[in-house]
Amino acid sequence: MLNELKQRFSIPGLSFEQNHNGLVSVVIQSAACTGELFFQGAHVSSWRPFGHEPVLWLSQKSNYEKGKPIRGGVPICFPWFGPNASNTTLPAHGFARLQEWQLVGAQQKNSGAMELSLETTIDPFRLSFQVEFGNELKMTLKTLLPQNAMSSQSYEDALHTYFSVSDVRTISIRGLEPASFIDKVDDAQLKPATDSPIRIESETDRVYLDTQSDCVLEDTQWKRAIRVAKLGSASTVVWNPWIDKSKRMADFGDAEWPGMVCIETANIGDSRIRLSPGESHSTTAVISVDALSTNRNL
Ligand code: BG6
Repeated sequence: MLNELKQRFSIPGLSFEQNHNGLVSVVIQSAACTGELFFQGAHVSSWRPFGHEPVLWLSQKSNYEKGKPIRGGVPICFPWFGPNASNTTLPAHGFARLQEWQLVGAQQKNSGAMELSLETTIDPFRLSFQVEFGNELKMTLKTLLPQNAMSSQSYEDALHTYFSVSDVRTISIRGLEPASFIDKVDDAQLKPATDSPIRIESETDRVYLDTQSDCVLEDTQWKRAIRVAKLGSASTVVWNPWIDKSKRMADFGDAEWPGMVCIETANIGDSRIRLSPGESHSTTAVISVDALSTNRNL
């Protein structure tokens, strides 16, 4: 497989690797950024735009094994989010992050960004994932319900993005102030808008509803602001497991929780996507990074 990929996609700045468990990834090294994507799950595991520190978080305890999700980067959740509603023996967050995707295209764009296109099938849907590694990271998950499908179908999706932060207790997230949310750490209660930026002060697992807004993660210690812009997404999830939940996850270091936060571009619950045969939907997240001036008044 590795040799076939190398021959088919012989493009400067693109290389392929295989780890000791047989997982294959594509590595991007260009003037704009460095990055990596595993074909299992079409999983973006790293992205570092030129002039910045790595933007995505990866656990030191992550598995890189066939059939196991990678802890960090950008898992794709599909066709459901969280546990399956009717069968809890099915994998959390669906099949997409566990199965092999095929690379069908790669090209260097005029901007210097590297664009990769991947595809897979999760019956009855056909999925394509387009990711542009440049000074922005642009990811689009397109879901098609083929014309010959027997009936309309619905699904949930999420680009479950893990961000690396200096200390989650000192960051803030703007953009979700006007949105109400489901608080998964408080009996899934529906809570009203808070009208203030999010600060993480305990285990946080929230699904923000009916929000198309950009989010800005401000990290004053690392003097950077990460913007998550999105299209085709009506829910945003914010997650940090804090102390006890980190200890319960085998693939998450006990002391790693201060270094990460997830801001997930999603369509969940009442915002699940409904498609008739022949219809498609695209969910896009665009991540960019800016320096944050030190005297900024937060
Ligand atoms: C978040 C969910 O998106 O993902 C959390 O809101 C969940 O409830 C977390 O714990 C991690 O999920 P997983 O399946 O990767 O351990």
